[in-house]
Amino acid sequence: MTDIQTYSGPQRILSGMQPTGGLHLGNYLGALVNWVKLQESGAECFYCVVDMHAITMPHAAAELPDKVRGAAAAYIASGVDPEKSAVFAQSAVPAHAELAWIFQCVARLGWLERMTQFKDKAGKDKERASVGLFTYPVLQAADILVYKATHVPVGEDQKQHLELSRDIAARFMRDYDCEGFFPLPDPYIQGAGTRIMSLKDGSKKMSKSDPSDLSRINLSDDADTIARKIKKAKTDPEPLPGSLEDMGDRPEALNLVGIYAALEGSTAEKVISEFGGQGFGAFKPKLAELAVERLSPVANEYARLIADPAEMDRILTKGAERARAIADPVIKEVKARVGFWG
Ligand code: TRP
Repeated sequence: MTDIQTYSGPQRILSGMQPTGGLHLGNYLGALVNWVKLQESGAECFYCVVDMHAITMPHAAAELPDKVRGAAAAYIASGVDPEKSAVFAQSAVPAHAELAWIFQCVARLGWLERMTQFKDKAGKDKERASVGLFTYPVLQAADILVYKATHVPVGEDQKQHLELSRDIAARFMRDYDCEGFFPLPDPYIQGAGTRIMSLKDGSKKMSKSDPSDLSRINLSDDADTIARKIKKAKTDPEPLPGSLEDMGDRPEALNLVGIYAALEGSTAEKVISEFGGQGFGAFKPKLAELAVERLSPVANEYARLIADPAEMDRILTKGAERARAIADPVIKEVKARVGFWG
């Protein structure tokens, strides 16, 4: 697996997550911790809640606004500072949709047909999938390029969408004769150690949509629940090896070691050197203790924020204003190049 770690200075960052109605350890360690680091690097950061992507699948309209507030609250509870970074809902900035339409006329059908996330999400009966689910990556390209973002912190599974964004940017600039108008955005992908897997199956990503709640640690879980889930996490009878090379094919063991390392801000190697030779009976309580210590301040802040929807609305309104200040002139110029009115 190749890690893309080319980010090396303050440029413009954009990322987004769907408002799923509940944040878990995978979102936190796999994404948000990294968003916060980028924010601290001094880069200009745009962190949106992609509610327009959320309607590509069946959804409950009445719940969507609260889910958006919840996702934004999770960003902030994890350390995103809305004074430094723009935190906003995608649907509050019309330029995303306008650019997405133009990009739909730039992207080729064949490019989209190669996208694996569509195949996974559409399932067997793809004739019944929404057209929006098919063009989802084009909207994602618009999310990124409407801010001329240079770096996009995402998980490994989004690399293909980032390549598509680059292809769309390049083709737009060629078709409309404006070389250099868009940057070619780079994915910024953290080390493999921060890919957090299900507690019940080390080969599957930790996910909100997994039917078993025991498969994930939610940011809303209390200390006892966290400890219980870690205790019940799938493992094997072997003790931890003395070195990472000797781990062999033990995805569940590797996942727990990776979670420990990510929570501690160290590396899997270091965790193994500390716990090598010990069984899970010894390691799991230590992991639970560390998880509770790290997550409870985040959980408390999250609970405080979601209890104050008016405050969340103020933050989201301000974030959208900041986002529009960047996106509006970009879409204006794009429309002029395409030959549109206004
Ligand atoms: N597709 C991303 C995911 O599933 C979410 C997303 C939408 C996104 N727009 C984006 C991520 C723009 C980065 C940049 O995780």
